[in-house]
Amino acid sequence: MRGTGLQRSLFNEEIPKRVGHLKNNKGKQLFLIASILFSVVFWAFESFGSSDSKSLTIVLPARKVDLLLSQMKLGLKLVTVEIQDPVYKKTKAYDGFRLSEVLALAGFESKSLANELVFTSKDGYAPNTSFDNLLQQSAVLVFREHGKKDFAFEKVLQGKSMITPAPFYVIWEKAPSAEAVPWPYQLVQIEVVDFKVKYAKLYPLTESAGTSVAKGFSVFKSECLRCHSINLQGGELGPELNVPKNVTEYWAPEILKSFVRNSADFRLRDKMPSFLHLKPEQLDDVLAYLAYMKDHKIDHTRK
Ligand code: HEC
Repeated sequence: MRGTGLQRSLFNEEIPKRVGHLKNNKGKQLFLIASILFSVVFWAFESFGSSDSKSLTIVLPARKVDLLLSQMKLGLKLVTVEIQDPVYKKTKAYDGFRLSEVLALAGFESKSLANELVFTSKDGYAPNTSFDNLLQQSAVLVFREHGKKDFAFEKVLQGKSMITPAPFYVIWEKAPSAEAVPWPYQLVQIEVVDFKVKYAKLYPLTESAGTSVAKGFSVFKSECLRCHSINLQGGELGPELNVPKNVTEYWAPEILKSFVRNSADFRLRDKMPSFLHLKPEQLDDVLAYLAYMKDHKIDHTRK
């Protein structure tokens, strides 16, 4: 679709030259009409390509749907929300749709077993949150800043570069804290899953609730999974932590804990956030979970 914009401008520039070659007025007129029609078609094509045709993939337990913005506009109530935005660190107003309604439009039935949402961004960042959060804290799928064109957002700093949150960005109207829920931008997919099924390879199935491993898993799930995979399940922004070598096999526990607390002490320009808010017991639990997974590796030698 991008190519059509280029073609359109080349075509327009050529019109005066070509018109000059035409001898009679009728021909001139016809040519002008034809070229205007052509431009309109190209314009329609291009604006279609650059805005409404951007879709969001919704993966439900039983089906997968690509929802176009135009379909959402037709089927859903547009909401405008003003929030204190933790990504921009200032007040922002957006236009979008209630995420629960977007999922319903895609065919999600709330009685299904699914209990977790997994968001996937362009760069492989894949944060998750519980389905209950969605209902209690009113997530909104936004597609533009209020009053701007579709997919128009002010650029925001990510690492060292300025990026746009487009096409889609999930914000929360009511959240107990910004850290309690994910704020995924450059969103391309939302998956509604039964966590135990989707993440069967990293779920500590043999552990009962309350053990250090189970508690560590729950910390890992909310703090680490969005960037790291275990047994190749999870986010891809950071490295896989279990196969072929589990991190506890080559990091000493104390070093591993201080790395996780603040990796910038170890590596400049590092892309992992600090976890100074985790209590020492929570770090111990995460390590217990990681060590547990060492004995539950997938068979990564099989191709
Ligand atoms: C925002 C993404 C992100 C989150 C969240 C995150 N990490 Fe990381 N992590 C990274 C990246 C990127 C690296 C690669 C090295 C670097 O940038 O320092 C990394 C590296 C690591 C390493 C070193 C692996 C190695 O052998 O080099 C460990 C261990 C680790 N992370 C554990 C964790 C744990 C445990 C959590 C949760 C408490 C966590 N990470 C949360 C992005 C993340």
